[in-house]
Amino acid sequence: MTKVVTPYNDQNRTKKEQVEEMFDNIAHKYDFLNHVLSLGIDITWRKKAVKHIGKSNPKTILDVASGTGDFAFEALSLNPDKVTGYDLSEGMIKFGREKAVKQGVQDKVVFIKGDSERMPFDDNSFDAITVGFGVRNFENLNAGLAEMYRVLKPGGSVAILEASQPPNAIIRWFFSLYFSNIVPFIGKLVSGDGRAYSYLPESVKAFPEGLEFVKICENIGFENAKWQPLTFGACAMYTMTKK
Ligand SMILES: C[S@@+](CC[C@H](N)C(=O)[O-])C[C@H]1O[C@@H](n2cnc3c(N)ncnc32)[C@H](O)[C@@H]1O
Repeated sequence: MTKVVTPYNDQNRTKKEQVEEMFDNIAHKYDFLNHVLSLGIDITWRKKAVKHIGKSNPKTILDVASGTGDFAFEALSLNPDKVTGYDLSEGMIKFGREKAVKQGVQDKVVFIKGDSERMPFDDNSFDAITVGFGVRNFENLNAGLAEMYRVLKPGGSVAILEASQPPNAIIRWFFSLYFSNIVPFIGKLVSGDGRAYSYLPESVKAFPEGLEFVKICENIGFENAKWQPLTFGACAMYTMTKK
């Protein structure tokens, strides 16, 4: 059985409650830390994923676990009619909404607060779905993926980005040094949340990555499920479609 890793190791609260609190806590520094700690490479990962879903020219895009909306804003490059950013944390969404207003795209990018395991959308609603660094945080991974499958239109495509562990032992050693020591240190210093950036490497280690995740997606019903390591395997891009 996969180990359940939670942000605050609090036995009395669900993972979801703790995840929501954690992202509310770090929302004010999330974008800054994201770009600094990934050395800006996260931007290229999202561009690659958006390029992938762009092949089917989607007009309605759902960005699950949208946070402050970086994936949703990147998806505007495909000139869709509408991008919906959906997230559990009101704190994160608040920054997403502010960014939309600043960019003058508040009519095209809308944010809705809610749980990915119970989405308020009709079956077969979206042409494409993106998820950036969100699935690892789901309390019930299967339920979240099943909801994504339900709201995706037949023929629609999905691109999921998730942090992962480099397969090469030497690169993994350096990566682990950075990810398990330097990232939590800087993360705590800047965000003020001592646990958030320790939970990050812990949750990556516990996540069923690569082929294991591909199999989970296939069991949900997705077709053409594939994965591709990015930047020496520090990130993985998972792509799939609905028949
Ligand atoms: C690491 S952030 C990623 C934000 C954004 N996608 C990006 O690429 O930067 C993860 C986000 O997942 C959201 N999240 C976690 N569990 C969720 C759930 N069950 N339903 C909806 N959002 C969830 C969190 O609130 C948080 O904003």
